[in-house]
Amino acid sequence: MTEVLGDPDSAAAWCSRTRAAGQKLGFVPTMGALHEGHLALVRTALAENDRACVSVFVNPLQFNEKKDFERYPRDLKGDAAALARAGCSMVFTGTLEQFFPGDRAQSLRDPGPRALGLEGALRPGHFAGVATIVERLFEVVRPDVAYFGQKDFQQTLVVEDLARALGYPRIRVCPTVREPSGLALSSRNQLLSPEARARATLLSRSLEAARAAWRAGQRDARELSGAMRAVLDRAPSNGIQVEVEYATVRDPAAWSADEPSGRLERAVALVAVRVAEVRLIDNMVLHEG
Ligand code: PAJ
Repeated sequence: MTEVLGDPDSAAAWCSRTRAAGQKLGFVPTMGALHEGHLALVRTALAENDRACVSVFVNPLQFNEKKDFERYPRDLKGDAAALARAGCSMVFTGTLEQFFPGDRAQSLRDPGPRALGLEGALRPGHFAGVATIVERLFEVVRPDVAYFGQKDFQQTLVVEDLARALGYPRIRVCPTVREPSGLALSSRNQLLSPEARARATLLSRSLEAARAAWRAGQRDARELSGAMRAVLDRAPSNGIQVEVEYATVRDPAAWSADEPSGRLERAVALVAVRVAEVRLIDNMVLHEG
């Protein structure tokens, strides 16, 4: 049985009872419209802890476009049913006012230096909104371990920095779950027509091109992003509007706002593309291990 709780105070009470019973608690924060990518995080949390809980909250603080917030898919009933099937112990939600009573939502947390560049540059305020809600969610749940997807690579860096600053919890980053086509699962995929969805495989194909270049011995940052660009620029449009926001590489151990120049020993390729006005992101680690 999955307990479904409608406000953060009830969730905090459930979590403290769980802790008092000496049970180890894994936590998966989400914005709902759950898919296999989210459920894989829940399964890992259940495998590694006594109990797993999930938050479903479409956090207005992290949306820099009103339209994106308004059309973000919401399906709490479907989410609760999927979580029950996965064996999740508890799911909770809440309103902005419940999470941040009074004017607490007015003061956002500084997301730190790894929020600079890419998503941080293109979505002003996004990571401050993420860091602020994630800190609050951690405060409610006080988990032993929190689970995040590699799908949102830069978010994992911001959250790792947050957890280090707070002194808890342990952060586990889990692999990106993909469709057989290569398309990374995303709640936003629901907004794509079948044609646009087929077109969206462009992102993973560009990342595969960077990986192929890396495996062939290419280590130059500009050449690696050039390999991605070649795929993105060459593809015929088929009447679907495609707008590349970035296709680039970074050294994950030495995050920089701008693309590094010259040779890389370690690299992650990252891409953001608007396909038929739906903004999609994806990434792939190129080095082994
Ligand atoms: P959301 O986009 O719902 O994602 C919740 C978690 O699921 C994130 O850690 C995300 O990286 C992970 N995830 C999404 N798609 C995935 C996939 N295809 N494979 C593996 N994991 C995947 O990320 C957020 O919500 C919010 O920013 C949040 C952290 C909840 C703060 O509001």
